[in-house]
Order: sequence, then structure tokens, then C-alpha cells
Amino acid sequence: MRVLSVFGTRPEAIKMAPIVLELNKREGIESFVAVTGQHRQMLDQVLKIFNITPDVDLNIFASGQSLTDIAVKSLRGLEDVMKELRPDLLLVQGDTSTVFAAALSAFYHGVEIGHVEAGLRSGNLYSPYPEEANRKLTGVLANYHFAPTQANRENLLREGYDDRTIFVTGNTVIDALKYVAREDYTFEEELLNHLDYSGRKVVLLTCHRRENLGAPMSHIFTGVKRALDEHPEMDVVFPMHLNPAVRQLAQEVFQDHPRVLRIDPLDYLPFSNLMMRANFVVTDSGGIQEEAPYFGKPVLVVREETERWEGVEAGTAKLVGTQEEEVYRAISELLDSEQSYRSMAQAINPYGDGHAAQRIVDIILAQKGIEG
Ligand code: UD1
Ligand code: UDP
Repeated sequence: MRVLSVFGTRPEAIKMAPIVLELNKREGIESFVAVTGQHRQMLDQVLKIFNITPDVDLNIFASGQSLTDIAVKSLRGLEDVMKELRPDLLLVQGDTSTVFAAALSAFYHGVEIGHVEAGLRSGNLYSPYPEEANRKLTGVLANYHFAPTQANRENLLREGYDDRTIFVTGNTVIDALKYVAREDYTFEEELLNHLDYSGRKVVLLTCHRRENLGAPMSHIFTGVKRALDEHPEMDVVFPMHLNPAVRQLAQEVFQDHPRVLRIDPLDYLPFSNLMMRANFVVTDSGGIQEEAPYFGKPVLVVREETERWEGVEAGTAKLVGTQEEEVYRAISELLDSEQSYRSMAQAINPYGDGHAAQRIVDIILAQKGIEG
């Protein structure tokens, strides 16, 4: 069986890597990897960590390109890939433009589709944008839906999907985390070795969502700055997404604030190890909402909606919104109230047990009646 995995951005690479490694191990499967290169540096660092060399690299990256550019270039490039590799199954993960374009390409070429991380829904087509639409569109085209949680499965059932095509597997992000997190890790970035993780309150910040660009992101940053100014014990580490719009807003609000360490995106290995050492996390990321609970780190979600309610229901994540006042208050509460902090700092793991990739590959083989 010929299985083609297609991905293009950092989070897809992180979550597909455990599957690619598992596919490579199995007899009965010929595994191919094609990357669109929607991201460049942020994708390449993940490929290196997991030692994955793509068979095809469409290299569509261009700084600041539009959603149309990404979709059109991916779809165009994947046509030749589908014709040359003639896969029996396409695997895609999540909700990016790469994912939707790859699913559409497979559909045009009569290739079956397995959707990893299926069934996440915020309920608002415009938030996250364009991800909520991308995952719904991909779901419509998919033959197999690998849902991380039971709640994700129920979302799909509510939309009328056949239960026999839905498989609850856990999220492969936990497989990936187990691969990289180490208690005895030493950072190559000297600054990160010198932070006082136990004596001070080190807060990890990330922000990149399209619907937050502009006023909401500016308000988020201003809320963080207000909390900083009132809490001398707080330090912020902000590995900034390479999107120039994010970096410019961060510069405007934080300027040269002495307690905001603004750095380039960290590779996955140092990033996950930084999360493990930080006091708590402020983020609009999807993947980080899943990772922080694994480490028992409270996570303040600076978005208006989430598709990841499991962490909120378990009490380790809080959906804060994007208003300056809300962000400021939520951070202050975690810094000022030991009880609030303790109630959120529980190591729970509603997103998977670290064996999702194995489960997904087992299901693929079983569906095809192949020994592997
Ligand atoms: C994309 C995904 C989003 C995902 C995010 C993960 C879409 C529409 N969005 O958003 O779902 O949460 O990735 O990070 O698919 N850039 C670089 N180098 C890189 C990567 C990005 O310079 O390696 C800069 C470029 O200027 C690029 C910009 O960041 O144009 C935005 O990248 P893009 O892939 O368009 O969207 P993201 O906001 O990263
Ligand atoms: N991440 C990373 N370096 C960073 C920031 C994030 O390796 O500087 C990892 C993080 O651990 C998570 C993934 O990237 O696994 C999340 O990516 P991002 O927030 O860009 O995308 P999303 O999950 O929101 O789609």
C-alpha cells in the first residue's frame, strides 16, 4: 500500500512526524512524504529533529503570501505528485491551507484520504480563520477521520458522518512531545539557561492567529505589558512567529521592555523544554493548548473561541479572550493567587497517551486487510 503524507507548516510537521516514523517501520506500507513548504525555516527545523527527508518539496514559500497563493501553488504542485507517486492513501493533519489543498488534490485524483486530527470545531466559521473552514472542507472529502478525542468524534457524528469511518486515536502531538521532552535538557540558547525558573515567574507567550492580527493582538500584548509592569517578579519569553505582522505589533507594544525576552521561533526541542520549565503559558496556538496540560502548566488561551474544550473542562486551560483587561486580569490572578495557580497546574492529558500514531497506522492496515 502506497501512503503519501503531505504537510506544510510547523504544527502539521510536528503532529505528522510520529505517523511518518511509524509508517516507515511497517511492512506492507510504502511511505512517501511531500511537503508544500508553506512554512520554510519553521518546517525545516521539525524535519531535522525527527530526521525526515521529504521525497518531494514543492517549496511554495514566499514571505507574506496570500491564502489564495498558498492554495493555488499547493494544488498545482500536488497534481504532478499524485500522478507520479500514485498513492493509495493520502494522510493530512489538521486545518491549514496545505491540508485543504492536499485533500482537494487527492479527491481530484481519486485517492482515498485519511484526516488526522479530525472533528475539532469551534462552531464559528470565521474563528479560527481560515482553519475552521479548512477542517470542515477536509472532513467532507475524507474517507477516514482520525479523531483525537471522544468529543471530536461526537462533533463529526452531529454533522452526519458515518460512525464506521471515525476512529478515536488520541492526538499525535503527545507522541511527538514524548519524543522531545527531557528533564535534563540544556539549551543551546544561553539566555534560556540563565533564566531563574524557580525563583521568578517565567511566562511563555506565543501569538500568531490570523484573526488576532491587528487590534486584538495589540490588546493582548498591552494586557501582558500591564501585568508585567505591576508584577516585578514576572518575566516573559516570547518566541515570535516569523510573520512580520506579529513581529511589528510586538515591537510597537513591548519596545525594549527589559523583562520581555523576544526571540526567534525556537526549534521544537528547546521550545517544548522551555514550556516544561515555564510557570505558565499565554497563547493563541492550537498545539500549545494540547501540550501545556501534559506538563501541568496552566494555559491562558488568548482567543475568542476554542475547538479544544477538553483542557478548559479539566481546569488547566482558561479561555481568556483578547481584551486587554481580560488578559491583564487572568495573568494577574495566576501570579497573585497561589490557589488559582494550583487549581490550574494539574498534569492531565485529555489529548492522548503517546500511542496515537501506532493506532492510526494499525487502523489503516486493518481497513485494507494488510498485515504490517
Ligand atoms: C499557518 C496556518 C495556521 C497555523 C500556523 C502555524 C494557514 C492559512 N495558516 O499560519 O493554521 O496555525 O501556520 O504556525 O494555513 N513565515 C516565515 N517563515 C516560515 C513561516 C512563516 O517567514 O517558516 C512568515 C512569512 O512571512 C509568511 C507568514 O509568516 O508569509 C505567515 O505564514 P502562513 O503560512 O501564511 O500563515 P501562518 O500565520 O504561519
Ligand atoms: N512551537 C515550536 N517553537 C516555537 C513555538 C511553537 O516548536 O517557537 C511548537 C509548539 O510546541 C507546538 C507547535 O509548534 O507543537 C504549535 O505551532 P503553532 O502555534 O505555530 O501552530 P498551531 O498549533 O496554532 O496551528
